[in-house]
Amino acid sequence: MAGEPPLVRASGLHVHFPMRSQMPFRRSVTEVVRAVDGVDLHVRRGETLGLVGESGCGKSTLGQALVRLIDPSAGTVEFDGVDTATLSASALRSLRRRMAVIFQDPFASLDPRRTVGDTIGEPLAIHGLHRGRRRRRARIGELMEVVGLDPDHRGRYPHEFSGGQRQRVGIARALAGEPEFVVCDEPIASLDVSVQAQVMNLLVRLQRDFGLTYLFVSHDLAAVRQVADRVAVMYLGRIVEIGAAPSVVDDPQHPYTEALVSAVPAPSPRKERARDRIVLGGDIPSPAAPPSGCRFRTRCPKVFDPCPHYDPVLQPVGGDDALGGDDAVGGDTGDADAAQGHQAACHLHGVRG
Ligand SMILES: Nc1ncnc2c1ncn2[C@@H]1O[C@H](COP(=O)(O)OP(=O)(O)OP(=O)(O)O)[C@@H](O)[C@H]1O
Ligand code: SF4
Ligand SMILES: [Mg+2]
Repeated sequence: MAGEPPLVRASGLHVHFPMRSQMPFRRSVTEVVRAVDGVDLHVRRGETLGLVGESGCGKSTLGQALVRLIDPSAGTVEFDGVDTATLSASALRSLRRRMAVIFQDPFASLDPRRTVGDTIGEPLAIHGLHRGRRRRRARIGELMEVVGLDPDHRGRYPHEFSGGQRQRVGIARALAGEPEFVVCDEPIASLDVSVQAQVMNLLVRLQRDFGLTYLFVSHDLAAVRQVADRVAVMYLGRIVEIGAAPSVVDDPQHPYTEALVSAVPAPSPRKERARDRIVLGGDIPSPAAPPSGCRFRTRCPKVFDPCPHYDPVLQPVGGDDALGGDDAVGGDTGDADAAQGHQAACHLHGVRG
């Protein structure tokens, strides 16, 4: 919460993937996919930080780098004040128990040849928790109950469950190590609409009951507006806007966020008719060759002179809530909204690059 040091902090984070060139006769030439390309971000203990952006902008890569499933190419990830790059292999392994990921596609992330009991028990075995057959079995049953599954079904296989139940298995597995920080990577996107709300409610309840901290990755801005305390908007490997969820979604300051918000269907037919949708032209540029200056300039309806030349940095926007910058975590403004720090990286808010 505001006033405490963040649980997770990324500084100058880059994750680049070397790729072999697709061009004929140039097979030895490699290009670099800049999936995450200079991200500064923190997640406060107990909060939900929503992360939104189009497909391929780097959300999953960022989430996996924060839990150190992927090694950063540059920059640092601190967990509870400790730079994870300074840890020995065994210290990093025990730190991993405090972090978990819930993946989008429960079917793909569960081993079809293992019973769900064995799958849920895997982190217990890895981290040496609840040793002994009976204690481990009891713990697996407990975890199944916590996520709304029948413990008597522990001997069943993933294909014997529905999509929603399989996601509950994935959630139970994520909880097994008793994590503090959970990356929920589009946890309801592959589920039937009828069960999405149930799984969402389960995630909200678990956060409350276990004091979890979430990075909630989603394409769905409306869902993020509901569950997140703050929202970060990502475009081509960068955070382009961040702030309290109501500020960012109801009063977007970056043209990209404006376009995302304008695509969200309105709750009533009257508002839906009045909705002014901003349709972005052009394709998303390749993360191997982002445009010069502002990366959004090739699609931005508001592009102007400085945009191709200067790379905008995140800076405070708006009125009162601009007072609390990203580093206002320890600040004592007494204004909750200010402490959330609404920031955007756009020259419309002053040219700095
Ligand atoms: N292991 C990898 N090797 C090479 N490129 C990768 C790898 N993982 C991701 N990428 C590339 O990095 C970029 C970001 O991918 P990422 O999966 O993080 O995006 P995303 O925002 O999660 O997309 P989606 O919404 O579709 O899940 C994409 O261009 C992707 O092709
Ligand atoms: S900096 Fe320029 S191109 Fe980038 S979002 Fe702002 S107005 Fe658009
Ligand atoms: Mg993804």
